[in-house]
Amino acid sequence: MKLSEQKKALKASVEAAQAVGKLMRQNLRAQKKIDSQSQHDIKLQLDVRSQKLIEKQLTTKFPEISVLGEEGDSGDNQSNYRWVVDPIDGTVNFTYTIPHACVSIALQEKKGTRYETTVGVVYDPFCDELWTAIRGQPAFLNGKKIEVSKRKNLDQCIVSIGFAKSKETMEKTLPYFNKMLPQIRKVRMMGAAALALTYVASGRFDAYIESGIQLWDIAAGGLIVECAGGEFWNQELDVPNKFKILANNGLLRGQLEKIGKL
Ligand code: IPD
Ligand code: CA
Repeated sequence: MKLSEQKKALKASVEAAQAVGKLMRQNLRAQKKIDSQSQHDIKLQLDVRSQKLIEKQLTTKFPEISVLGEEGDSGDNQSNYRWVVDPIDGTVNFTYTIPHACVSIALQEKKGTRYETTVGVVYDPFCDELWTAIRGQPAFLNGKKIEVSKRKNLDQCIVSIGFAKSKETMEKTLPYFNKMLPQIRKVRMMGAAALALTYVASGRFDAYIESGIQLWDIAAGGLIVECAGGEFWNQELDVPNKFKILANNGLLRGQLEKIGKL
């Protein structure tokens, strides 16, 4: 896809993310209808409504591009391009009226057998912060260029970590967490992976780690980290679209890997 088309895709993603952001702001303090829940996860009717809104906006403008989303897929799953959508990332925060949640939209292009993210948008409607990136270009926050931090010693770093949603991922992550904690300045666990990645991209956090995370949580944020000069190390697990990630400012992976395995 040419840069001019990527710019059009970015504009459409921004508009869709802002439309859902408005819906999130309007509903933050409202009673939420829960579709389903498990011990560590909640799915709201608003998650589905938000994805439908995004799908409608994007597929009207780009009918040939399929959608892979947290709330379901549509279109040809073999297509050369796909949108990867998390309509509300941080659903548990949002349900509990914690204003730390966002919309995440990525455009991916098929490269051989895998897909590569080329456009990424993350929108936090509560702080009105909009992160955007196109592969090969700088990353922006509300139109201003951003860069990852330059901190190179773990003892000065803020590291964020996610425990995903299953007993297995929690049991795996806890020993790592316990070993990491005394070696860093602060840990932050804020409940929206896409925002944690944009915080790394903006130099607020120095690294973000999670095992068992889904593609829609990380596709846009991962590109934004890379375009801000950081490293988005990731590995797909045996379940499709599930990943282990270590995003950082490009200076910390060795030290973080030394702590242990996830
Ligand atoms: C979750 C959040 C959470 C992360 C989980 C995600 P959701 O997404 O990003 O911070 O730890 O792995 O699944 O369910 O709120 O969209
Ligand atoms: Ca999510």
